[in-house]
Amino acid sequence: MSNPCPIGVFDSGLGGISVLQDIRRLLPNESLLYIADSAHVPYGEKSPEFIIQRSMAISRFLLQQPVKAIVIACNTATAAAVTELRKQWPEVLFVGMEPAVKPAVRASQAGKIGVLATTGTLRSARFAALLERFACDVEVLTQPCPGLVELIENGELESDVTKALLARYVEPLLAAGCDTLILGCTHYPLIKPVLRTLIAPDVQLIDTGEAVARRLQSELAKRGELATAQQPQDRFYGSGDLASIERTLALLWPQPQTVTVLGF
Ligand code: DGL
Repeated sequence: MSNPCPIGVFDSGLGGISVLQDIRRLLPNESLLYIADSAHVPYGEKSPEFIIQRSMAISRFLLQQPVKAIVIACNTATAAAVTELRKQWPEVLFVGMEPAVKPAVRASQAGKIGVLATTGTLRSARFAALLERFACDVEVLTQPCPGLVELIENGELESDVTKALLARYVEPLLAAGCDTLILGCTHYPLIKPVLRTLIAPDVQLIDTGEAVARRLQSELAKRGELATAQQPQDRFYGSGDLASIERTLALLWPQPQTVTVLGF
């Protein structure tokens, strides 16, 4: 059994490409349909109600294509909307993501963990529940990172401005003795090379992309819906400035891609 339909993946912008890279590595036969809601980036500073409304509209569009699963490649959108999405479409496979607290607790020798994420994720009830469940014996320092997502969207993956802003966010966590940092926003793995230059080699960086790809693989396998032996066809949609999305996408995805306008 197999299902040749694409997998739908969405984010507030291009951060979800870090997850798309992990999905492509693990599932090279799958066609991928990616949505960058860049007209509304950053989700991290928007209300949960707004994010639910966007996530619903995007999921409706994806299901019309149709797709066989939807990956919410955004911690902020998962925190705000995954419960509503699953309620609305109980038969659909939604794979969401959240900051990797459990693996970080396991990895930290110092018992001190830093979490870099959006304001929305850090304020959410889902994140509070995650800490309560997995982080009772460690110290967790949280750091919202306003401004960083916009720089990444703009393709500034290695600029001095990006480096300086990142340093401002990371230094207090390092000074407090964190030996493990969670990248709790899908945009941040895209600037890992710069981040690496700011931290000691033994500080561990943990993100969720690979775990999401594995979960997607096992759920599709369970349903008999993995694609077999096909030439994958990828499609990209975006809201906002398409030329700017294409420019940044070219830095992140191997073949040149055109981005189709999302009409809502
Ligand atoms: N990439 C998103 C996340 O994982 C959100 C970034 C934003 O739009 O604020 O949280």
